Amino acid sequence: MDVTQPGAYALDPFPHYERMRATAAVFQDDRSGSWHVFRYDDVQRVLSEHATFSSRMGGDNPSGSGQLFAASLITTDPPRHRQLRSLVTQAFTPKAVDALAPRIAELTDELLEGIAARGSADLIKELAYPLPVIVISELMGIPAEDRERFKQWSDVIVSQTQSGPAGGGDDATAAEMIGYFLALIDQRRSRPGEDLISTLLAAEIDGQKLTVPELLGFCSLLLVAGNETTTNLIGNAVFCLAESPGTLERVLEEPDLLPQTLEEVLRFRSPVQSMYRVSVAETFLGDQRIPAGAPIVAWIGSANRDEQQFQRPAEFDVDRSPNRHLAFGHGVHFCLGAPLARLEARIALEALLARLPGLSLAPEAQLERMESTIVYGLKALPVRWQPA
Ligand code: HEM
Repeated sequence: MDVTQPGAYALDPFPHYERMRATAAVFQDDRSGSWHVFRYDDVQRVLSEHATFSSRMGGDNPSGSGQLFAASLITTDPPRHRQLRSLVTQAFTPKAVDALAPRIAELTDELLEGIAARGSADLIKELAYPLPVIVISELMGIPAEDRERFKQWSDVIVSQTQSGPAGGGDDATAAEMIGYFLALIDQRRSRPGEDLISTLLAAEIDGQKLTVPELLGFCSLLLVAGNETTTNLIGNAVFCLAESPGTLERVLEEPDLLPQTLEEVLRFRSPVQSMYRVSVAETFLGDQRIPAGAPIVAWIGSANRDEQQFQRPAEFDVDRSPNRHLAFGHGVHFCLGAPLARLEARIALEALLARLPGLSLAPEAQLERMESTIVYGLKALPVRWQPA
C-alpha cells in the first residue's frame, strides 16, 4: 500500500506500519519523491537532528497555507528557532497553563451539562471539538462571537496540510485569517489586555521583539496545533477506554491512573501520526542514502508501535512504564502545548467519567477516521450512558 493514498486514512493503519518497519523501514515513494521513515530510532533522529533534517518545508517561497507557517516556530530552524521559542515560552509557561485549570473545568461542565440527561451523544461534536477551540480562543482573547469562524479556519488549514504544511492551499481562507489576525494585533497594540497576543507583543529577547509575520505565524500555528490535536486526544482516549475491556472500570476505581492512561493513548493512537522535514545535506538513514533536499515524512504513529522500543506494542496497557512515546515530537520542536493538551484531556476525561456513568460506544457506531495522513482522530464518536 502506498502510504500517501486514501487507504492510509484507515482506522487501523498499524499493521501497515508494522509491515513497513519489517520490510521497508526507510522507503522512497517514487510518485512524490518523499522518503518515509517508520522505525522509532530513525523517527527520533529525523525529528531532533535539526542540522541534518530541516523544518523549513516551504523553502523560501511557500504558497497557500504554507505562507501562514513560513515565519512560525514549527517551520524555523535554530538559531532563529531558539530565539522565537524563548519569546513565546514567556507567554506559555507551565504556571500560565495551570492557571487555566478552573476555567477548563467550568467549560467542560457547561458542555456536559447540555447532554448529561440525554443518554447518548456524539462526543466529538459535543465536547472534544468545542472545548479546545474555546480554550485557545479565550487564551488569545478572541471574542466569543468569532469562535465559529475561528474553528472553520482551523478545519480548512488542517485539511490543507494533509500533504505537509507547505502543500497547496486555499488562498482565500489564508487571506481572510491573516486579515483577521492583523486587525486583532493592531487592536491589542493600542489596547493591551491579559491575553496571549498582548503578552506576545510585549515579549522581548536580547532587545528583540516578534515581527508581525512572526506573530501571525504563531497565531495561525496555535489555531491548528492547539485545536484538532487536542480534540483527537480526547476522542481517542474515549475510543481506547471503550475498546479495551476493564480499563474504563480500572480508571474509575483508580483515578490517579488517568495521566499515565493518557500517555498510553498518546502512544497507542497518536493524534499526530506524521511530521515533515527536508534533508539539508546527504545523509544515511538505515542503509538508505538520502540526498540533500529530500522531503522526509517521519511516521510518529509507527515509531510509537515499534517492537524494538515497546514490549507488546499492539496492546493498550495503562501500566506501561517507561513509555517514551514520540507523540509530542522530540528535541527542539517538542510540542509547546503539551502541558495544555495534557491538562485539557485530563479534565475532560475526569468529567466524562464522573458525569456519564456506564459510558460505552453506541452499539451501532461505525467509527470512521478523519481524512488526513497527519492527524489521527474520529469523524464522530457516538456513545451512550445511563442518564441520571
Ligand atoms: C494532543 C495534542 C497535541 C499533540 C499530539 C501535538 C503534537 C505536536 C508535535 C508532534 C509537535 C512537533 C512538531 C515537529 O517536530 O515538527 C508539536 C509542536 C508544536 N505544538 Fe503541539 N501537539 C498537541 C497540542 C498542542 C497544543 C494544545 C498547542 C498550543 C496551544 C500546541 C502547540 C504546538 C507548537 C507551538 C509547536 C511547535 C513547537 C516548535 O516548533 O518549537 N500543540 N506538537
